[in-house]
Amino acid sequence: KNIVILISGRGSNMQAIVEAQIPGANIAAVISNRPDAAGLAWAAERGVPTAALDHKAFASREAFDAALAELIDGYAPDLVVLAGFMRILTPDFTRRYEGRMLNIHPSLLPSFTGLHTHQRAIDMGCKVAGCTVHFVTADLDHGPIVAQGVVTVLDDDSEDTLAARVLKIEHQLYPEAVRRFVAGELAIVDGRVKGRAQDA
Ligand code: GRF
Repeated sequence: KNIVILISGRGSNMQAIVEAQIPGANIAAVISNRPDAAGLAWAAERGVPTAALDHKAFASREAFDAALAELIDGYAPDLVVLAGFMRILTPDFTRRYEGRMLNIHPSLLPSFTGLHTHQRAIDMGCKVAGCTVHFVTADLDHGPIVAQGVVTVLDDDSEDTLAARVLKIEHQLYPEAVRRFVAGELAIVDGRVKGRAQDA
């Protein structure tokens, strides 16, 4: 299965997926909307095809998404993986990859969609936090949940310490979710994922 991974920054989740060497998975390309994303250089060094499409060069979100879809489709993807891809996607784009695009979000969805998830969890006095892999729909950080990983929030946690602990779980959870997709173990039935990945 051809997999295209979209990143915007350091790409540690992308690295975890590449390094997992998932049977039957071909990392067809790593694409970034930021040409200077550290993850691009990491992938290129390992011989993974890379591309950059600078969103600032486009007049509208629609125009960027259309060009991005064209670039992605050149790699004939079976699965598109959003890994720290910091762009809101248009409905046309999400519809195009319906049922074959995954995202990882650093909270236990449906709590804390959007940004600053860890600080918000701390501020609310949450006792557990975590991350969620879900299929992407037009609704930001919604969509059928594939897998969740949970960590305990410690009394002295800062945003950074909590983020670091959750990130470790992300690096286990995401490759496992991709493995399950590639193995044909994930299906959406009545809006829910059948064959849930084991919770971390
Ligand atoms: C991760 O915390 C991910 O959950 C969120 O953005 C961060 C990306 O980190 N969507 P990285 O680029 O994968 O290191």
